Amino acid sequence: MEIKPGAVDFIGAETDALVLIESEGARRADLAGPLAALYDSGEISGKPLELTLVHGVAGFKARRVLIAGAGKPEKFDAALVRRIAAAAVRFLKGKGVKSAIFALDGAHATAANISAAAIGLVTGAWEPDVHKTEKKDSEKAVDSFSISAALPELSAAIDYGVIVGEALNLSRNIAVEPPNLLTPTTMADRAREMAKANGLSFEVLDRDRMAQLGMGALLGVAQGSAEPPAFIVMRYTPAKASGDAHLGLIGKGVTFDTGGISIKPSEGMEKMKYDMAGGASVIGTMQAIARLKPSIAVTGIVPAVENMPGGKAQRPGDIVTSLSGKTVEILNTDAEGRLILADAITYAKQLGCTHLVDCATLTGAIVVALGYTSSGVFASDDALLAQWMDASKTSGEKMWHMPLDDDYRDQLKTVYADIQNIGGRWGGACSAAMFLKEFTGDTPWIHVDIAGTAWLDDPKPYLAKGPTGVPLGTFVNLAMNWK
Ligand code: BES
Ligand code: ZN
Ligand code: ZN
Repeated sequence: MEIKPGAVDFIGAETDALVLIESEGARRADLAGPLAALYDSGEISGKPLELTLVHGVAGFKARRVLIAGAGKPEKFDAALVRRIAAAAVRFLKGKGVKSAIFALDGAHATAANISAAAIGLVTGAWEPDVHKTEKKDSEKAVDSFSISAALPELSAAIDYGVIVGEALNLSRNIAVEPPNLLTPTTMADRAREMAKANGLSFEVLDRDRMAQLGMGALLGVAQGSAEPPAFIVMRYTPAKASGDAHLGLIGKGVTFDTGGISIKPSEGMEKMKYDMAGGASVIGTMQAIARLKPSIAVTGIVPAVENMPGGKAQRPGDIVTSLSGKTVEILNTDAEGRLILADAITYAKQLGCTHLVDCATLTGAIVVALGYTSSGVFASDDALLAQWMDASKTSGEKMWHMPLDDDYRDQLKTVYADIQNIGGRWGGACSAAMFLKEFTGDTPWIHVDIAGTAWLDDPKPYLAKGPTGVPLGTFVNLAMNWK
């Protein structure tokens, strides 16, 4: 689908469908004829995401007008625009609409809203149907969408949104792949393709190199699988950096998590193909970074492994030495994400990253705590946390600040090694975060647990079932608005 700037005069524009935003309790001045009647009868209420399609409205050149509810004006924001645009594109799918216009008029015509609309249009069109042989849902989407808004920066704002939207779809295309097709090796291939196409420097460390460096925590996880691990490094260097900061983004890349010897129940195990969603999000983010060119250096790191219970698999009771030199007693081989992230965090610091953000489908406990709505955020640094929360506001990716408290560290004490890899029964997301903190030292760091938010089981009007790409939008905003 092509997204382009549209004429300011959307009322006189010829198109298959014109999408107009209608607030709750504030009828638009240009509503006439059947639209006014619909509004006055209460059939159009303006409630968020309400969609009403009307053909042949007098006064409009468009063949159809789609009235999209935008809720109360005081609650209206870019995150809602993104959802409205995505819901509109999904609603129009399969209705034979080839070209359409999304209008943002009056006070709605801001750069943030325009970018959000573009993100919504691009991501709304996505479907998880790459492996269907027939009737691909994604092919029924509108061919071209114009965004109409009276703003000089219209075209730049659209470009920003399209870049972020395409990056989200790239990340979703990687995350949706089944575990037989997306192994650590093919995940690295996908990242390499992206890096080459976008001019990023790229490297993959193989098992031998990781052993040479001493990544014992990661290699312990990888040893039960016939698939070799891959440690993916993608680097962006700005032409002119605005400071010394170097952002390291780390994404968990477990291409399948059986649990290893501490094996998971078979029911629902297929879902553990999305245990690499964090890594996929980082790969997508690096594509957006390469195209948007922020003035801060950004390195993306994805430790990719498969967690299997093969004959060489690590056992509960094993003690491994991490890249940091710290020893870890493995008490549960299903707590593997923190092990691979520990070595990735240490490696990122060795590369010179001054600030770190990792994202990972790390714990079932975060799903118990926050459900499928918000990602859990753990932060060792208040300034970085403030930037992160700020960045999440315009991305619309909900974040909830969780405690990172030394008292949770007590759960990780063992007499046999420096630390053990699981805590007690309660507060599992917090003890997992404390495990990671052990390896960050004094580098400002944020951990984002996306176990509940990386995958959508029940589709929404604005988003297909499957991977969401979270927290890519926040990553990109963080880098672009770095302070
Ligand atoms: N990948 C899982 C976490 C997960 C659970 C992600 C549900 C998405 C949905 C992780 O590796 C894991 O198995 N964690 C264990 C940790 C436990 C053994 C301490 C968990 O959460 O049960
Ligand atoms: Zn696990
Ligand atoms: Zn896992």
